[in-house]
Amino acid sequence: MRIAISTGGGDAPGLNAVIRAAVLSALDRGWHVLGIRKGYAGLLGDDDVVPLSRDSVRGIGHLGGTILRTTNRGNPFAYPVKQADGSFKEVDRSDELIENARNLGINAVIAIGGDGSLNIADKLWQKGLRVVGVPKTIDNDVSGTITTFGFDTAVSTAMEAIDKLHTTAESHDRVIVMEVMGRHAGFIALHSGLSGAAHVILIPEIPYDIEKVSAAIMAREARGRHFDIVVVAEGAMPVGGMESTLGASLPGQDRRIGGIGERVAFQIQQRTGKECRSMVLGHLQRGGMPTGYDRLLAARFGGAAVEAVDDGKWGQMVALHSPNIVTIPIADALKEPRRVDPNHDIVRTARRTGISFGD
Ligand code: F6P
Repeated sequence: MRIAISTGGGDAPGLNAVIRAAVLSALDRGWHVLGIRKGYAGLLGDDDVVPLSRDSVRGIGHLGGTILRTTNRGNPFAYPVKQADGSFKEVDRSDELIENARNLGINAVIAIGGDGSLNIADKLWQKGLRVVGVPKTIDNDVSGTITTFGFDTAVSTAMEAIDKLHTTAESHDRVIVMEVMGRHAGFIALHSGLSGAAHVILIPEIPYDIEKVSAAIMAREARGRHFDIVVVAEGAMPVGGMESTLGASLPGQDRRIGGIGERVAFQIQQRTGKECRSMVLGHLQRGGMPTGYDRLLAARFGGAAVEAVDDGKWGQMVALHSPNIVTIPIADALKEPRRVDPNHDIVRTARRTGISFGD
């Protein structure tokens, strides 16, 4: 048996722990393991396919990032190919990828990624490549699994940042608005905001009214509390409005979600007269050592993915259905993205502890 592993999309703390557990579990069965570098670029001649041995994965379980590297511009069904005039054209290179995998004697691929990469994995499986998926995202927005590795680390990073903002905000009687990641889901903002005791949490699932946000801040002011921490999910939006976006980082890419923190800080300052500052926590949330929870989940996912390959569970992904790791069809997980339920007990608890959602 010769399997290959790929990591695609944005990195998440715990990727290396998945790779390590998958490689060691496969070697334990007497299989050969290859690593496809940079998403699928290694199978398309734009990077390498490398053998993965015990030595390759020694001492990586606690490290952030991915030893295989990754990209969010590597969809083989719409692969950006540079044209003579310097522009990029998207080309379907999936047949070439499958052919190259066959030529390398790859019997199965373990594809580790978020919804975009899992969608690619599912399409490759439909075209005949034997694939098992491993869900990954700091955003926690993949359905079918209770959670994904990387999320707990991102929440801890955001929570620590809120802790640090408290002291400076209080010293200066300021409102500090912190924008966190999450794309169209508010999980990172909600979980870090409640555990870090923020005063306002704005998430895409609960559109906010800036007047109500300002009123919540003035109500605290009236109680003698002169500082506020506002945690804003990057995809948050006002009632009847749209999410904020920034310019694309490279030609041909979509606009990026972001910029809401600064906008909200400006609007609060205008309405309350309080001095406001904003900051974007950004990619700090994706970096660093995974928490114990994420390392354990990642290791379990890596081991379970190899078991799924052994059992021929093609087109399926591993998932956490506590207390067990199970496999489910990737297509099922992709039907609907996971979003915060506005009636979830975490939201209700936040409200009861006085946190405003601006609604
Ligand atoms: O999906 C993970 C994520 O970190 C999102 O929270 C964020 O919007 C996006 O990726 C940022 O991606 P990039 O790597 O393009 O900056």
